[in-house]
Amino acid sequence: MDRPVPVSRQARREGRTYSVVFDIVTIFPEFFSSILEHGLLKRACGAGLAEIRLHDLRDYTEDRHRTVDDRPFGGGPGMVFKPEPVFRAVDALKAETEGTSFPVILLSPQGRLLTQAVAQELARESRLALLCGRYEGVDERVAEHLATDEISIGDYVLSGGELAAAVVMESVTRLIPGALGNEESSEQDSFALRETATAPDAHGLPAQAGLLDFPQYTRPAEFNGWKVPEVLLSGNHEEIRQWRRRRALEKTWRKRPELLDKTPLSPVDRTMLEEIKRAACEPAAQMK
Ligand code: ADE
Repeated sequence: MDRPVPVSRQARREGRTYSVVFDIVTIFPEFFSSILEHGLLKRACGAGLAEIRLHDLRDYTEDRHRTVDDRPFGGGPGMVFKPEPVFRAVDALKAETEGTSFPVILLSPQGRLLTQAVAQELARESRLALLCGRYEGVDERVAEHLATDEISIGDYVLSGGELAAAVVMESVTRLIPGALGNEESSEQDSFALRETATAPDAHGLPAQAGLLDFPQYTRPAEFNGWKVPEVLLSGNHEEIRQWRRRRALEKTWRKRPELLDKTPLSPVDRTMLEEIKRAACEPAAQMK
């Protein structure tokens, strides 16, 4: 059953209403049915926080066979998306809201990398057009003269932009206040870079900004002989907070050390990090 999606009290007090319309241009509109029927996107759409509009690229063709692709000039394997249907599709979207512009994003492995900062940037928009490429590529004139942005979800090649569009929609929608049902949680995500005033921690920094998440545990307190760290059962909130910060720093240092260069660290964090590094050099030493 669908739970109602609460908009945070603060957002309501400030009269902020956030929502985003995604216009997806694709030759596989049915690809998106599963994400529209489950989870966050379904809930956000149900609550009016997001709207996903699917546009079949073939509806913008003008030939009997509804042709969207052709062989590449100069030869080579595979097929390339023709420019005309893509331009027609986007022109039709623009005509709906004449005078207001919106980003037109081509999903492609050549785009700028989708990071949390990019998702936050996109979450400020009220409408995003996402163009899903397919086959060997999309006529370059789309990237040059139609798309305002090109986004890649990683340095690997997918056979189409549909999965990438789904990733963009999920990462953007979960940043819309109320979409998670608990506004706090997206602010505590790994990589989340704080822009808004949220309660800073005792170090003067918001918890976990730019770091990987601290480890989470749930019941049972012991499983297969592996015990949950005792501090988490102590009920001592200050000790738990410090332990989490330390473990977030440790995890980030071990798994993604380059993130530490971009993360604002307090003097207390730096001391913790030194302790973590020192402890790692002592094989017998155990993290509390
Ligand atoms: N289309 C094909 N590969 C892609 C990628 N890595 N990111 C976005 N769109 C794509």
